[in-house]
Formats: sequence, structure tokens, C-alpha cells
Amino acid sequence: MILSVVLLLLAVIWTVQYRFRRRRMYELASKISHPKDELPLIGVTHKFMGNTENIMKSLKQFSYEAMETDGVTRVWLNHILYFVMVNPGDLEVVLKTCMEKDDLHRVIRSIIGNGTLFAPVSIWRRRRKVLIPAFSPKIVESFVEIFSEQSQHITHKVARMCGSGTVNLWPIVSAYSLDAACESTAGVKIYAQSKANSQFLTSLEEGLNIVCERMFHLWLQVEWLFRLLPQYTKYQKCIKHVLEFSDEIIHNKRKELMNDKQSITKCDNDRSYDFGDYKRKSFLELLIHLSGGEKGYTDLELREEILTIIIAGTDTSAVGMAFTLILLGKYPDIQQKVYEELKEVFGDSNRPLVKEDLPKLKYLERVVKESLRLFPPAPFIIRKVEKELTLPSGVTIPSGSGIFVSIFGAHRDPKYWGPDAEHFDPDRFLPERFNLQHACSYMPFSYGPRNCVGYQYALKSIQTALTSILRNYKVIGEPEKGPIPNIRIKVDIMLKAAEGFYVKFEKRKPC
Ligand code: HEM
Repeated sequence: MILSVVLLLLAVIWTVQYRFRRRRMYELASKISHPKDELPLIGVTHKFMGNTENIMKSLKQFSYEAMETDGVTRVWLNHILYFVMVNPGDLEVVLKTCMEKDDLHRVIRSIIGNGTLFAPVSIWRRRRKVLIPAFSPKIVESFVEIFSEQSQHITHKVARMCGSGTVNLWPIVSAYSLDAACESTAGVKIYAQSKANSQFLTSLEEGLNIVCERMFHLWLQVEWLFRLLPQYTKYQKCIKHVLEFSDEIIHNKRKELMNDKQSITKCDNDRSYDFGDYKRKSFLELLIHLSGGEKGYTDLELREEILTIIIAGTDTSAVGMAFTLILLGKYPDIQQKVYEELKEVFGDSNRPLVKEDLPKLKYLERVVKESLRLFPPAPFIIRKVEKELTLPSGVTIPSGSGIFVSIFGAHRDPKYWGPDAEHFDPDRFLPERFNLQHACSYMPFSYGPRNCVGYQYALKSIQTALTSILRNYKVIGEPEKGPIPNIRIKVDIMLKAAEGFYVKFEKRKPC
């Protein structure tokens, strides 16, 4: 009895002290509007309990509430305070000032360690310096050849699907994206598109799905609890394969460079990929060179960086392609305009795309940009607030909280995009119509010193693959009755269509 009273007393003292230390946080939080359905103590944690479609619904709800209340709303996830923001003026300051990624991301560090994407700022600065020259426009342009060759495979896949009714786009776009990413990043062909089940693709996808589950379901972040669950064994198996795969690539590249040979042309029979004869340099080679050669990155650092590039560049681009194809299926008139532009550029020839073709495909570019506006593959970025921050709108954000940068919300805010913000209208990107009041109103690739280094790469890869498909095949979807595309969405780290990406293909006369 006495022990219970003492324990109770200690708990009360601890709580009072804890709340007293955080009094500034509570004071500032109380000034910001919040969702009506938050609960005492747990805040909005119950809204993150369901599947990833429900989680997206909640994040969407918070973003729309922020649009209605000066661009910001605040939510408590148990004891952790987050601000969901859509105001582009405020977001510019956030993205320039709060460089540290939020602790929610720590679970993904078990795959990519201190890779640039989620590295602590002290490590990120050096990594970013090395990465930037590797993504120079000239180098990225040299990869168009890879995109073009890999696009031939995706078109052959579509050919086989033609006439077989409704098909799921996801396996083909993600395999294309992974093939292109592995070849440009590591200089290896993994044939994800030609094999029924690429082990690397499956391990990566399953591993990332578990990471996503852990990110949103806070109880799975408790390491000892996670280790007791069946997901842990599955996760370990996936990660083991992904890490072994990248270590082998690095080992071989080091050996190749040591032997001062141009390339390794022979592959071991028991390997599921081969080393091609590359004239262009892969990101891996560039990173070895740019970090200082032999004295530069260690094998671990190289592994972290190449996995970062592959992970950051695969699903994002695949999502961009998949949403664009779904939208074109829903809007046949817009697809027809894309096809006419392709006919103008390629005529009757069936030659593969070359890098000089891309700048001519202006309408296709507008379609992709509009698709990335309505369905940004990375709809939210979460940054940590380490020092109290007063924003241009007058809102003060307390240290110790986190900010959900709602790219999704900023892209749909009628204050900046007009009353037709939800419409699918590629021509809003016509130079004479595109007049953004603020850079952060459109930022599928984020903004500021920590923005996406791969945006040029992504746009070229997506446009090359779409060109190859759309020159030869018509995408048929459920035609949309109005200008607002009705697609249910979920957030599996990336934004995805909740019901999958289903369309039909019909053969065209090639151009
Ligand atoms: C449509 C495709 C893509 C989208 C929408 C996208 C979007 C993003 C976003 C939103 C970020 C986070 C930035 C932040 O926290 O502020 C990011 C970071 C990053 N992305 Fe992309 N990305 C795409 C494709 C790619 C590709 C193809 C690559 C590489 C080949 C790539 C490499 C990276 C890297 C390395 C970072 C980390 C940058 C840093 O922290 O300094 N991304 N991307």
C-alpha cells in the first residue's frame, strides 16, 4: 500500500516536472488550431492506427485544415508535437532553416545508415558536397541512353499485356525504374524487368514496406517489441539480401578499379546480374572518385550512398510514371495531344529516343509536372525543429517539435493555385500561364539546401519511359466525368493509388 502511494507520488512529481520543462511548447501549441477529433493524452495517434489509406486520409485532413487556418495546424502524436504546414512563405523558411530530419525516419537508417537522404546534418554536409557534382546535367544526360534502352523492355512488357484486359502497372514501372537505377548507380544490369521475380526488387520492396509500417505505428518502433514479432525475421532476411547485393557490387567495382581494367565483361554463372562494358561512369565510380579515390569513402559509406540513390530514385520515379499513365487513361483528349506531339517528333520512325528529343516534348513535360503536382510521390517531408522558430506568418514553432511539410497540401491550395486547384490541367504549366507567387507552392522535389539532387534524372527517366510506351500503345482507363481526377490514395512512404494502378493497353500504329 505504502509502496503504491510512493510510486504514485513519484509519477505525479515526474509528470509535473516534465510538463514544467515543456511549458513553452504547450503554450505555443495552444495558440495554433488543431483537429476537432483529437483525444486527451494521445492526441491524433488513433488516426494513424489503420491501414496506409486511412493514414493518408488523416494527413490529407490535416493539410486541408491547415489551408483553412493560416497554413498551419498542430497535432499531438502522444507526447510528440507536430505542425502540418502548407503556407509556402513559411515552408521556405522551414526548408532553409530546419535541416535535420525527424526522428520518425530513424527506422529507415537500418537500411541506408548515414546515407545522404536521412543522415544527421553533421554527416549530410560532406555527403551532399560529394553527391552534387555526380548529378551534373552532363552526367545525368549521359544516362538517357540507359533510360532509352530500359524503356524498350518496358514496351515489350506492355506488348505482352495488350489485349489481356485490365493490368496492374506497378510491377512493370517499378521494375523499369529499378533496372534504370541499378544500371546508372552501380553499373550493373539486374534484369528486374525480364525476370518474373527479381529477388533484389522483392527484398527491397518488402523491407521498405516493413519500414513504413514501423514509421507510422509507433509501438513497432520499440526495438525489443519489434524483435519479438514475425515482421522482424522477415525484415532481417530482406535487409541481408539487399546489403549483400550492394557489398558485392562495391567489392567488384573496387577490384575492377584496382586492376585498372575498363570493365569486367564476364559474369559468374550463379549471379543474377552481369557487369556490362560501360563507357559512361556509374554513380558508384563517380562517388569513389569524387570522395577522394582510395582515401575517400569507405566500403560502408559507399554502400550507404548507393543504396540511398537506389531507394530515393526507384519508387519515386515509378510512382510519377504510374500516376501519369492512370491520368492519361482517364483523360483521353490529353493523351491524344501527347501522342500528336510524339508523332511530330518521331514521325513514322521507330528509332529509340535520344537525349536531344526530350527538350522537344514540351506537352509531355507539362503533363508530367501536373501529375507530380496533384500526386507528388513524396507527399510529406518531416523536419525536426531544434531551435524555436518564428515564421513569416507570425507563427512561432517551439524547439523539440517536428514539422510535416505538406507538399501535397501546398500543391492543392486554392490561395495559390486558384479555384481550379484540384483540376488536372497540364496547360497551367504553359509559360504564359505559369505565374507562381512563391517557389514553395510547387515543389515535388522539395526546396532549399536539402532538396532532391535527382530531379533532372527523374524527369528524364520518367519522360523517356512514357515516350516509349505512348508512341506504341494507348492507355485505356475509366474515363473521368469531370476535371477532378477521382483516385483513392494511400501513403506507403511514397504516395500510391490505394486500389493499385490498373489500366488497359491498346496497340497503336507506331510513331
Ligand atoms: C519523381 C521522382 C522523385 C521525387 C518526387 C523526389 C523527391 C524527393 C524529395 C521530396 C526529397 C526530400 C528532400 C527534403 O527532405 O527536403 C528527395 C531527396 C533526395 N532525392 Fe529525390 N525524388 C525523386 C527522384 C530521385 C532520383 C531519381 C534520385 C537519384 C537518382 C533521387 C535522389 C535523392 C537524394 C539523394 C535525396 C537526398 C537529398 C539530401 O538530403 O540532400 N531522387 N527527393
